[in-house]
Amino acid sequence: MAKESTTNERMEKIVSLTKRRGFIFQSSEIYGGINGFWDYGPLGADLKRNLRDTWWRAMTREREDVLGLDASIILHPAIWKASGHVDTFSDPMSDCLVTKKRFRSDHVELQSGTLYRWTGAQDLSGKSSSEPFSVLLAAGKPPESARKVAQLYYAQRGLETPELLGETTEKLENSRAFNPDNGAQLTDPVPFNLMFHTFVGATAGENDKAYLRPETAQAIFVQFKNVADSTRIKVPFGICQIGKAFRNEVTPRNFTFRSREFEQMELEFFIAPDEAIQLIHGQVAQWSESADLTNPQPDWGWEMWHRYWVKQRTDYYARIGLSAEVLDYYWQTPSELAHYARACVDILFKFPFGTEELEGIAARGDFDLSQHQKHSGKPLEVFDDELRAAAVKLSDEQKTAFIATVVADWEKRQKSTEEATGFAERLLKGFYLPHVIEPSAGLDRLTLAIIANAFTEVEKTDPKGKIETLTVLRFHPRIAPVKVGVFPLLKNKPELVAKARAVYDLLKPYLATFYDDGGSIGKRYARQDEIGTPFCLTIDFDSIGENGPELLDTVTLRHRDDARQERVKISDLLGLLLPQVA
Ligand code: GAP
Repeated sequence: MAKESTTNERMEKIVSLTKRRGFIFQSSEIYGGINGFWDYGPLGADLKRNLRDTWWRAMTREREDVLGLDASIILHPAIWKASGHVDTFSDPMSDCLVTKKRFRSDHVELQSGTLYRWTGAQDLSGKSSSEPFSVLLAAGKPPESARKVAQLYYAQRGLETPELLGETTEKLENSRAFNPDNGAQLTDPVPFNLMFHTFVGATAGENDKAYLRPETAQAIFVQFKNVADSTRIKVPFGICQIGKAFRNEVTPRNFTFRSREFEQMELEFFIAPDEAIQLIHGQVAQWSESADLTNPQPDWGWEMWHRYWVKQRTDYYARIGLSAEVLDYYWQTPSELAHYARACVDILFKFPFGTEELEGIAARGDFDLSQHQKHSGKPLEVFDDELRAAAVKLSDEQKTAFIATVVADWEKRQKSTEEATGFAERLLKGFYLPHVIEPSAGLDRLTLAIIANAFTEVEKTDPKGKIETLTVLRFHPRIAPVKVGVFPLLKNKPELVAKARAVYDLLKPYLATFYDDGGSIGKRYARQDEIGTPFCLTIDFDSIGENGPELLDTVTLRHRDDARQERVKISDLLGLLLPQVA
């Protein structure tokens, strides 16, 4: 019987299991740990690798239109200026005026209560402070507790046993301006740039400052031309990359969910602008709820491609065991969208601590390539033969009308006539900067989601009637770190051990296999269930022909999720198991 546990309890159990069984450890633990950094133990490393492989395979091996890249972590610093990260990649930060605890201002939980304000304080020695201070007191708490916090504040300013002055109160609702732990006022939010920096070379001057990449995407944009030219691939096509990213998060939290070092899996899918599709095909396919998103069509514009990638990514999650019930979607409203973006949807997972972002899929227009073209001075446009051929067929009047339509359309989006005309004229010559659809996922978040999704507690009654709670990680076989457990029934029977070893040797080159001869078979099943091994094989006396020739060279195959057992020929094992994990 599956057992339910409350949200926090569940998260605590997950954190504890991942440490106990070697999935995730706190980084630098013996030195007290380092906030926002995590290490993956033997099983975590394999789980993460399997996830990474499924993504890479879905993006590259199973497609003709996406190519891989593995770029450096430290890039030319001008890239981060062009991308906007140097100037705007920041989170608002506030400090508690009493404890100095740091908060990400927009993540402080909303609070209501009575606001106590003081105009200042003085002490018996005549020392005074005229700095105003306030405390938000939650309903039901005694006013004295607010005054104590204020006295602490003034004591830190050198007053001994401060007497508070000019106290006033008022009701306050839904404020993020106070420390939820003690009600003390927080400093006004200040932007804090999230990029880690370092210095390249021995001189280490300001001119040598470089950044650890905060996303893998920018390297894809700046290598776009090299990839296109070296492979001769044509738009629409994508470049994908998996790699480390670094963000000096103000408040890392929720285990690995928000870390300071993490891995991203990003695709930049380059498409022709809608205006080019219109010129070539005479129309741009319109998205509707009933649109067929299975096979990309030549007349797709950005919206169909965006919807297509949302579906592709949802299908991917289903393939690794994250079904529609555990996912959700958040479509950014027009006022939330970045100025250059046409649409952005977050794919969310229902984590034990809340429904939170797993991946963002943005339609980014040509913002990134145009920024890099401008800042590097290098042309990043592509030439499209089909577009040129379509433009050549137009009369001068038709060309003028086309330019006028583009200008009118762009003006609606607050773009200048000059910009729109320049773009339309380049199109008529066959050139454009590709637009981008960007599905960007976090590998560490996905690993955590996969563990949380798999985590199940099962109550079992032993032969003596005692009920115990066992943990089962119901990983999809495709991503489970260990695929098969192999057990000789007894470890002191050489024939059983030899046969079990032979089975292990047979499977090991093809499947992550674990050999275990310790304890009862039940205990061995339980140990494998706890790490999510989908299949266990027991080699018993039937396997070595002690009970007749019919069952010689067969084993018991036990399935993790329903404890079903079946008898399988050793020679059939690979054929049976391999398709289930592929
Ligand atoms: N290039 C777009 C980009 O980087 P993002 O929404 O900032 O977009 C994409 O990041 C994904 O990277 C997120 O959906 C999340 O899965 C992951 N991610 C971002 N910050 C993270 C952090 N501090 N810790 C773990 N994963 C993070």
